[in-house]
Amino acid sequence: MLKKIMAANWKMYKTRDDASRTARELVVAVGDKLPDDREVLLIPPFTALYGVSEMLAGQTGYFLGGQNFYPEQEGAYTGEISPQQLTDCGCSFALVGHSERRHVLGERDDFLAEKVLYGLNSNLKIILCIGETIEERKQGLVEQVLLGQLEKGLARAGQVKAENFIIAYEPVWAIGTGETAGPEDIAQAHDLIRSWLEPNQQEGKDIRILYGGSVKPDNCATIISLDNVDGVLVGGASLKADSFSKIVTA
Ligand code: PGA
Repeated sequence: MLKKIMAANWKMYKTRDDASRTARELVVAVGDKLPDDREVLLIPPFTALYGVSEMLAGQTGYFLGGQNFYPEQEGAYTGEISPQQLTDCGCSFALVGHSERRHVLGERDDFLAEKVLYGLNSNLKIILCIGETIEERKQGLVEQVLLGQLEKGLARAGQVKAENFIIAYEPVWAIGTGETAGPEDIAQAHDLIRSWLEPNQQEGKDIRILYGGSVKPDNCATIISLDNVDGVLVGGASLKADSFSKIVTA
């Protein structure tokens, strides 16, 4: 059984000092209460990666991830960062296709598919984020959108190893809004994703599916106990060590 992933996405928040301090406080707050079947993943902004990696050195169960990367080793890509630069800063994970990259930065499925393939080939564990908007949900398009994003996201990589490929279901309408999907909505979406993975991926039954979207200390225990929920991806409530440590140990 692969471990559940308790991930903190710090987005474009925190200076280096603040990020390192929060990482330190988190390790202290969690102490020896991190359950054996869980691992913690911190995803700070690029500028804070190296500092946080130094802070986490020697801590078992803690990992570092990048929020994004460009699918080339190096080159004339002003403003971008490569998988090699992420691993050089201590990252072993990276997000691909977070809804803010899809909807604010306009990243498209074919580009994301390229990133999934390139990231996996660069020794990064890839978390592919998928999720429907509120309009799509109202139009009854949840299944079509989720399975479409999944299929297109994996179009280049083909068969993947469960250890290295993770899905995050993040309904766009629940991100940063304080509105969490209800347990039935989450269970339904995760079951749907699992029922696509099993026939389409050799290791489909073991691929982890995280939930993200307004996860908080007081709803995490319910969410994490649902079938097919193999961890959480947390934005707002991960910015403070006190709140994220409660989520991690919920
Ligand atoms: P949120 O963000 O927890 O603030 O809703 C989740 C995410 O964007 O990954």
